[in-house]
Amino acid sequence: MAKFRLPQAPACNKMLTFRADTPWLAPLAGYSDLPFRLLCREFGASVTTTEMISAKGLCYESPGTLPLLQTTERDQPLVVQLFGAEPEFLGQATAALVQAGYCYFDLNMGCSVPKVMRQKAGAALLGTPDLALACARAMIKEAGPGRVGCKLRLGLSASNNCLPDLALRLEEAGAAWITLHPRYAGQHFQGEADHAWLTRLAQTLHIPLIASGDLLTAQAGLSCLEKTKVSCVMYARGALKNPAIFEDHLHLQKGLPSKERSLRDLLLRHLKLVEDYPPSPRDQTARMRGILSSYVRGTPCARAMRIDFCQARTWSELYTIVDRYLLDS
Ligand SMILES: Cc1cc2nc3c(=O)[nH]c(=O)nc-3n(C[C@H](O)[C@H](O)[C@H](O)COP(=O)(O)O)c2cc1C
Repeated sequence: MAKFRLPQAPACNKMLTFRADTPWLAPLAGYSDLPFRLLCREFGASVTTTEMISAKGLCYESPGTLPLLQTTERDQPLVVQLFGAEPEFLGQATAALVQAGYCYFDLNMGCSVPKVMRQKAGAALLGTPDLALACARAMIKEAGPGRVGCKLRLGLSASNNCLPDLALRLEEAGAAWITLHPRYAGQHFQGEADHAWLTRLAQTLHIPLIASGDLLTAQAGLSCLEKTKVSCVMYARGALKNPAIFEDHLHLQKGLPSKERSLRDLLLRHLKLVEDYPPSPRDQTARMRGILSSYVRGTPCARAMRIDFCQARTWSELYTIVDRYLLDS
């Protein structure tokens, strides 16, 4: 039984799917909030994930944590990603989330930012496999079978590779899926993701394996599926640049030509979803300046739009700028 209560989530009525034609949206700190998840779902994302949420922060009902749990009926199936290094907190947080109606969970063992690693959480767990196992077990115990996945990197460094052992032990402990971003923690985002590890792990595991890492276009996602035989792919930076990557994936897979889309519609849709589901007390105008600029990167008016977005102080100015440049597009 949870020791604290969270606001109720809508009833969970959709199962997770792990297929080549069911691409997932990755957890993205600072980005995979409800409006962005809904946007990606409208383009065909099959499963979406919250950004990583501190288990301890949840247990202490920290004010910054609760907005990250914002969800709605259309936002299913949803995976809530937790980070932490204390099994008691991970267990308690999972229990409270289950009680509030959340269904699926992921344990972050991949985040390599110092703030998280210092807490022995995120990718630091790769260097303490027994603790990693205890953390996963605490979540699985509260959530039940088929409900908890783990997101891993290869290890702390090339001299500290924890695969495939850790993944197999997690499988044995009851993890329902593994996601692998095949870089070492020490690499952060440098070098190339080593997809050969995905092939190796896909042959070893009996539970679904999800690929993450350098899947920046739908072509890259589909080629990864074919080469590595993972169960499905997860788009991260590719979705930040192009939330329609999921639709591109599904079209390309069916052999259909990629769809012409209006950039204006994309920008306006994201703005509308943020208005409909204000994600947090953060300054949304400031946040959307950066997000909208990233959508237009590479287009002829990108530079001018970015300068204008940077100067926008109000929400309505963002709309005005979109129309100034893209009304006829
Ligand atoms: C801005 C940003 C935020 C991220 N936040 C998280 C997170 O909260 N939890 C997590 O497990 N991974 C996080 N990641 C890692 C991604 O989920 C993904 O594994 C990684 O970006 C590799 O995929 P890509 O090369 O296709 O972007 C983040 C990555 C980025 C770029």
